[in-house]
Amino acid sequence: MASHLRTGSCEAGSEASTADTEREGRKLKKKWTHDDIPNQTGRIAIVTGANTGIGYETARALARKGADVTLACRSREKGEAAAARIAAEQPRGRVAFAALDLADL
Ligand SMILES: NC(=O)c1ccc[n+]([C@@H]2O[C@H](COP(=O)([O-])OP(=O)(O)OC[C@H]3O[C@@H](n4cnc5c(N)ncnc54)[C@H](OP(=O)(O)O)[C@@H]3O)[C@@H](O)[C@H]2O)c1
Repeated sequence: MASHLRTGSCEAGSEASTADTEREGRKLKKKWTHDDIPNQTGRIAIVTGANTGIGYETARALARKGADVTLACRSREKGEAAAARIAAEQPRGRVAFAALDLADL
């Protein structure tokens, strides 16, 4: 009997926990998107590692919101290509490339 109660209680607990997690997940999804970034006009952003990954998405989002963005990357070829891809979307801010190898400061 005690074992049955423990099992029942555990299952009920885990169902509640799953529902809570799903509710939290929905809240988080609604909470923030790129569209929530405020106007960045007049600001200058220098984004390292901006030719790919998080850096690229950061540079792209800031330029779309009006910041003048410099993509600071160690590969000229990759950095210029990334800047061109962002510029092709006609963001509100200017987009430029600058050579920067963080391992060689
Ligand atoms: N805390 C967290 O939860 C979390 C989550 C995700 C990522 N991260 C971290 O955030 C960073 C970016 O992640 P990611 O997924 O966007 O990585 P990624 O796609 O591999 O991009 C890394 C960027 O850094 C550049 N880079 C590497 N060494 C460099 C150097 N010496 N000088 C200049 N640039 C250099 C790379 O340039 P090349 O293309 O020339 O190699 C690339 O542009 C990583 O450090 C990652 O560990 C943290």
